[in-house]
Amino acid sequence: MQNYIEQNRDKFLNELLDLLRIPSVSADSKFKDDVRRAAEYVRDRIQEAGADRAEIFETPGHPIVYGEKIIDPAAPTVLIYGHYDVQPADPYELWDSPPFEPVIKNERIYARGACDDKGQFYMHIKALETMLATNSLTCNVKIMIEGEEEVGSDHLGQFVKEHADMLKCDTILISDTSIIANDVPSIEVGLRGLTYLEVEVVGANRDLHSGVYGGAVANPINVLCEMIASLKDENGRITIPGFYDNVLELTEEERKAMNEAPFSLDEYKKDLHIDDVAGEAGYTTIERTSIRPTLDVNGIWGGYTGEGAKTVLPSKAHAKISMRLVPNQTDKEIEALFTKHFESIAPASVKVKVKPHHGGLPYVNPTDSVEYEAASRAMEESFGKKPIPTRGGGSIPIVALFEQELGVKSILMGFGLDIDALHSPNESYGLFNYYKGIETIPLFFKHYAELKK
Ligand code: BES
Ligand code: MN
Ligand code: MN
Repeated sequence: MQNYIEQNRDKFLNELLDLLRIPSVSADSKFKDDVRRAAEYVRDRIQEAGADRAEIFETPGHPIVYGEKIIDPAAPTVLIYGHYDVQPADPYELWDSPPFEPVIKNERIYARGACDDKGQFYMHIKALETMLATNSLTCNVKIMIEGEEEVGSDHLGQFVKEHADMLKCDTILISDTSIIANDVPSIEVGLRGLTYLEVEVVGANRDLHSGVYGGAVANPINVLCEMIASLKDENGRITIPGFYDNVLELTEEERKAMNEAPFSLDEYKKDLHIDDVAGEAGYTTIERTSIRPTLDVNGIWGGYTGEGAKTVLPSKAHAKISMRLVPNQTDKEIEALFTKHFESIAPASVKVKVKPHHGGLPYVNPTDSVEYEAASRAMEESFGKKPIPTRGGGSIPIVALFEQELGVKSILMGFGLDIDALHSPNESYGLFNYYKGIETIPLFFKHYAELKK
């Protein structure tokens, strides 16, 4: 198997680079045809890898690619999930090389999607090819790669519901998360949930002269800033009534264990060029980014932002606000609490509107399952070190939905690093990580089939 990977190193890399050249940005309709081209490329590579079946399913949004290789109805079935869509590459001027013209520098691939998630899901197609070429596949493989993960997987839930039979499996394997370091392998056993919404604050019916009206009529931008500022207290706690009611507090032992994971606050600050971190009092940085919920403004706009100065009292102000959630909060409950609270704190001088975007439930995995054990043994074999379980801060909303609709847990065996700069300019993925993933995935199948016997 290792021989086959060695012999095909360049081919495996060049195919990924071709995929990275397709700007499959799901958020921007300008790239609609490119998104489809990426889906077709993925379907064709699944077919070439030796699958029995590889096709594109239409949705009201971007297409879903599905393929399978059934070797033996009695063997366990693993469903691979990933996403071929990517985040917008803006702002382009901050990239050292164009985002859709991948380059290799310092043993890293630089391109939008290099890690999230093209580089990571493509490892599975190459692992499948390797297992089939070397006659070593031990499980049935189903593979579903979607094109709307970065915009909330709006149509995937319905698809999973309608195709529950086709997707029937024993476990789901996903590479769309990170490890602590290349010499500190880890497995994410948790994802945060998400409530994402947009707010609008409206004052007067039109923009006004800020001298003639200023001081007497509410400025919606000032009001919005005050409202947002009031959403957290001096301890960094969110002030929305009921917000923490369902938050599952960890025991002292659990917290102690998670804080034993290798982490250097100095290096963290140095990497980000900050003098200090900020967050909820009483919790460490590891805890703040995994087991605690958060509230953040993702964007805020209104009024005059052009060149020079304009004396204006704007009529409207807007913000996009997200909250990361932890067990046992639900996105619907938090959306309702936020909306009610936000409306209640608005002064009579303005009107507010809250518009929900997407959401998703938080997720946790046990570490005593057959699936976790298989992933742990696979990583131990390929990295030479037993992986540490960690709770991740990001969200993959479909994971909780898989559990609801298919009754199956997902294993998050990702190979990214924090320095990969997901969603940022100059996103990259290490060649080490790409090939390590291709090497580790077949080991997961091997151990999983053995453990399931
Ligand atoms: N792959 C990420 C999630 C992730 C990144 C999990 C790093 C753990 C470690 C995924 O593509 C993503 O970006 N998800 C979005 C949510 C979605 C609804 C837009 C997120 O977390 O913001
Ligand atoms: Mn991703
Ligand atoms: Mn992402």
